[in-house]
Amino acid sequence: MKKALIATGGGDCPGLNAVIRAIVKRAEVAGNWEVHGSIEAFNGALRDPREIMKLNDDNVGGIHAKGGTILKTTNKGGPFSWPVQKDDGSWDTVDRSDDLVKFLNDEGYDAVINIGGDGSQRISQALFEKGVNIIGVPKTIDNDLSCTDYTFGFQTAVDIATDAVDKLVTTAESHHRLMILEVMGRGAGWIALHAAIAGGAEVCLIPEIPYDVNKVVERLNKRYNEGKGFAIIVIAEGAKAKDGTVVSRKSDETGYSNPRLGGIAYQLSEELKNAGFKNDIREMVLGHLQRGGTPIAFDRILATQFGVKAMEMAMEGDFGKMVSFLDNEITSVSLKTATKGQNLVDPESFLVNTAKGVGISFGD
Ligand code: F6P
Repeated sequence: MKKALIATGGGDCPGLNAVIRAIVKRAEVAGNWEVHGSIEAFNGALRDPREIMKLNDDNVGGIHAKGGTILKTTNKGGPFSWPVQKDDGSWDTVDRSDDLVKFLNDEGYDAVINIGGDGSQRISQALFEKGVNIIGVPKTIDNDLSCTDYTFGFQTAVDIATDAVDKLVTTAESHHRLMILEVMGRGAGWIALHAAIAGGAEVCLIPEIPYDVNKVVERLNKRYNEGKGFAIIVIAEGAKAKDGTVVSRKSDETGYSNPRLGGIAYQLSEELKNAGFKNDIREMVLGHLQRGGTPIAFDRILATQFGVKAMEMAMEGDFGKMVSFLDNEITSVSLKTATKGQNLVDPESFLVNTAKGVGISFGD
């Protein structure tokens, strides 16, 4: 029997379980592969005792409909930056990638499939450079990975954000309020842009188009002056004013290096009041609800295709690549290319043009 090890890294995302299930099912159809899962990204392979789970039809049956990941995940550290506590109590990181390579060789793994976002795929590329037979599977609700048109989890997040807009309209309309909905996405405005169009917002503020608050007030006043006594703004957590900065804070969690975004909705609310907007405003930060619950059918299907493709690449010995969805086809790209850039909203794209065409202001 040949052996594959799979891991899920970074933030959880609807569809992770569907990928795991598809890999295991495809391996069972092939008949000559067994699949193991490392618990909590590659931590399970590095811990003593090891935390490795044998995966089969019994433990992956029905998981495609569940959010999260049965293998658990982490976005702290990794094999190249393993957190260790020093004698004085402070924390440092050490490179344990050689330990991981040794474990994979000793245990006779023929292939590794790493399901994760940009950070995880950079780890995949670095492991590939160390000789690991690795394949990446892109995941994130942010849809910000380059070389793939979509990542699974994104459409589920968009659905949740759109549902939130629909619900906020009820209160906005009844109270003549402006409701500001803040959605996730880090440096990418994809969730905000899609939810603003699908939900029919008046204003959409995204990181790719820094906003002028006076332009936003202009658009809102026009709306109120037309007799429509309420309005909706969808703002991405990474958005910023033309002369402003992204609202973020440093996490004090050990090994967590990303800035924690969130709170721009409250700042925008103040900016609007200072710029003379007179109507009542309420703010809502949607947060992790966007990553929770069951994946929608689109994401289950995309995740299943990614899982089958990754397993087939393992069977063919096609390593150092990331599975991707490009121009309506499931294909693959080199990890090196895939980890170079980011997929951001193009301000000149037809989607932004569409939003502007139905009267959505970006404050530009
Ligand atoms: O990358 C996915 C994401 O949900 C971002 O949209 C968000 O900024 C971040 O992860 C939140 O991370 P955490 O779950 O660590 O707070």
